[in-house]
Amino acid sequence: MATQDIFGRPLQDLRISVTDRCNFRCVYCMPKEIFGSHYPFLARRELLTFEEITRLTRVFAGLGVRKLRITGGEPLVRKDLPELIEMLANIDGIEDITLTTNASLLPQHAQALVDAGLNRVTVSLDAIDDDVFKAVNDVNWPVGPVLEGIEAASEAGLNPVKVNMVVKRGMNEGQIVPMAEYFRKTPHILRYIEFMDVGNSNGWRLDDVVTAAQIRDAIDAVWPIEPLEPNYTGEVASRYRYTDGAGEIGIISSVSEPFCSTCTRARLASQGQLFTCLFAGRGFDLRTPLRDDSVDDEQLAEIIRGVWRQREDRYSEQRTSETAPLQWKVEMSHVGG
Ligand code: GTP
Ligand code: 5AD
Ligand code: SF4
Ligand code: SF4
Repeated sequence: MATQDIFGRPLQDLRISVTDRCNFRCVYCMPKEIFGSHYPFLARRELLTFEEITRLTRVFAGLGVRKLRITGGEPLVRKDLPELIEMLANIDGIEDITLTTNASLLPQHAQALVDAGLNRVTVSLDAIDDDVFKAVNDVNWPVGPVLEGIEAASEAGLNPVKVNMVVKRGMNEGQIVPMAEYFRKTPHILRYIEFMDVGNSNGWRLDDVVTAAQIRDAIDAVWPIEPLEPNYTGEVASRYRYTDGAGEIGIISSVSEPFCSTCTRARLASQGQLFTCLFAGRGFDLRTPLRDDSVDDEQLAEIIRGVWRQREDRYSEQRTSETAPLQWKVEMSHVGG
């Protein structure tokens, strides 16, 4: 039986950040003014090695984790990532390994990732219009190569590819319908995400949130949609299908309709802290015991079990526009969303 927290939520998913670096500077995630050339990114020796990540994941699997998501920053900037995927795929109990990426490096890596045992991929893409997308990623990266990355993943067998679009007022809400129009004609699943107050750098205001209901109405007005049952309990995205048969979309309403009551996700930062919530102020350091030769796997399991059993996070259910800016929170690029 999986380890449960104070509210009875089982530890089932582990999101592993393999780097805090990214080759994009999305304005809502790693704004250039803060993540510039002087930003103290982690040194190589501070990162968990692939062996350390694998050992920890084996321990997590023993506690009930079945699903892994590899994140960053941008996970594909970490050298030799397919080697890690292969190591993780060999762990007993792990049923699903998936990757969240900006797809900039996906064309050259998709096949190796599949060969290593990756099951699925989610690509972040916030606009289908080049000018809007370039303004969002802030490194002048065009849409074309991202679409190529999506196709490369699809051809390598990572289907269906999911596409994440963070919607922020004044940034890209005009792209809600054009994105739907593009992805309706493909087998990929587009998911709209409400802009969240993660980290301390993105200048979040409640007024910037385009709510799930507004997104739903904008699409429904052009192509009618109807709700679908979740694929599994605790699925983050609410699913909808186009009534004309053109596939499905998802809407992730973490601000307007939070889903903490079914949150089974633990997050491992790249230097080895365990976060029990995306909005946590600090994580529990697992790297020190991991690098202490006198600590064995059973003791590591005991430490993690202890942290999870005390977990009482439900940030999104408690947030208000007044409290949101007051609390110090880990940056998105450290815990990977
Ligand atoms: P699958 O259903 O396995 O495909 O994955 P998923 O829907 O969990 O996808 P993904 O990890 O891409 O999550 C999509 C987005 O939902 C993330 O980028 C976050 O913005 C948001 N999200 C995911 N997990 C949480 C969470 O625990 N809390 C909050 N507040 N937001 C989350
Ligand atoms: N709100 C919602 N989603 C975000 N992401 C990054 N920052 C935010 C935010 N403030 C998304 C990315 C990516 C995933 C890792 O999280 O676009 O799809
Ligand atoms: Fe990089 Fe993703 Fe953050 Fe954009 S949202 S800066 S691609 S980690
Ligand atoms: Fe889970 Fe925290 Fe997100 Fe709530 S806010 S769903 S507890 S990660």
